[in-house]
Amino acid sequence: MRAARCHTVGGPVVVEDIPEPPFPGPEFTEENGIPVDVHYAAVNFADVLVIDGTYQMRAEPPFTPGSEFAGVVAASAHGFEKGERVFGSIFVGAFAERVTARPAALSRVPDGIPTQRAAAFGVSHATAYDALRLVADVRPGDRVAVLGAAGGVGLAAVELAALLGAEVIAVASTEEKRAVCAEQGAQVTLPYDELKRSLRNAGGADVVIDPVGGPYAEEALRAMRWGGRFVSVGFASGEIPRIPLNLPLLKGVSLHGFDLGGWARHRRDDLVTARTELRGLFAAGKIRPRVHAVYPLADVAEALALGRRAIGKVLLEVAHGV
Ligand SMILES: NC(=O)c1ccc[n+]([C@@H]2O[C@H](COP(=O)([O-])OP(=O)(O)OC[C@H]3O[C@@H](n4cnc5c(N)ncnc54)[C@H](OP(=O)(O)O)[C@@H]3O)[C@@H](O)[C@H]2O)c1
Repeated sequence: MRAARCHTVGGPVVVEDIPEPPFPGPEFTEENGIPVDVHYAAVNFADVLVIDGTYQMRAEPPFTPGSEFAGVVAASAHGFEKGERVFGSIFVGAFAERVTARPAALSRVPDGIPTQRAAAFGVSHATAYDALRLVADVRPGDRVAVLGAAGGVGLAAVELAALLGAEVIAVASTEEKRAVCAEQGAQVTLPYDELKRSLRNAGGADVVIDPVGGPYAEEALRAMRWGGRFVSVGFASGEIPRIPLNLPLLKGVSLHGFDLGGWARHRRDDLVTARTELRGLFAAGKIRPRVHAVYPLADVAEALALGRRAIGKVLLEVAHGV
């Protein structure tokens, strides 16, 4: 099968022929897995970190990067039928014509929802929804400021906060990005310049969702309303902010971190509840992730290099793009 391969830490990532995973074979167990023919895979920030060897977990080269996919089940197993459309996430392996996944890592694509849309809905929306619902407990009328609002997690947070009835303030670096945020439901859009002042002038925020970190975290925090909830979900800027603790003290603001892995280990029941709600919204057609571009698998290196230039999700077309 064709697969993107990383032979050395840091890349490059090249597409080549490798043997298919056992089908079914010695690894075909309850733990690992159901064979899925991949139609689309999504490129995530974490994939770049895994290739660079800077992610919290290491993949040993040579490996196939890619953590999110949608396609069809290639053999009936563990309650899934051959030919069923599914989407799911794994640590590595998705940038290939076939993956094997644990049953718990797979979900059925709801009827009427295109497979491509399912590939763009997954980790980013789950992260955003959990941060908004489980951590920040967003209620209708809350003012939610989203940093990095045109990125994968950011744009999902804009869309979902609007669906939850919040007033959304999207912070993004370019006019083009801000225009897309407005299309996805943001009432107010702001650049990063003088963020503390502009966010205050816009009425402040009850909730901040921050996938970016760096100096803007503190600026956003300084513009929060009393009693707000600040949720850190990532550090796309590469800089981990150091927050003076007098700020949450004086503002009555609570600081939270959200990490999918930690919640999966410690608060699985809550995650399952949130996932059921989120999938209900997705199946009802209320969630439409924005796809920035779809690249053939052969152009995986180009897709990975897009980085901050992407607005929303970047996909690889694997079934027809090899
Ligand atoms: N906690 C979790 O469970 C979880 C789950 C998924 C992702 N994450 C993390 O969340 C963060 C965002 O992920 P994502 O998928 O939304 O990434 P993304 O699609 O690449 O978007 C990141 C956004 O961050 C902003 N940014 C600022 N400085 C940047 C820089 N130096 N390089 C790249 N982007 C920069 C960009 O917006 P502007 O141009 O507008 O600044 C960009 O749109 C990452 O750190 C990721 O690891 C965490």
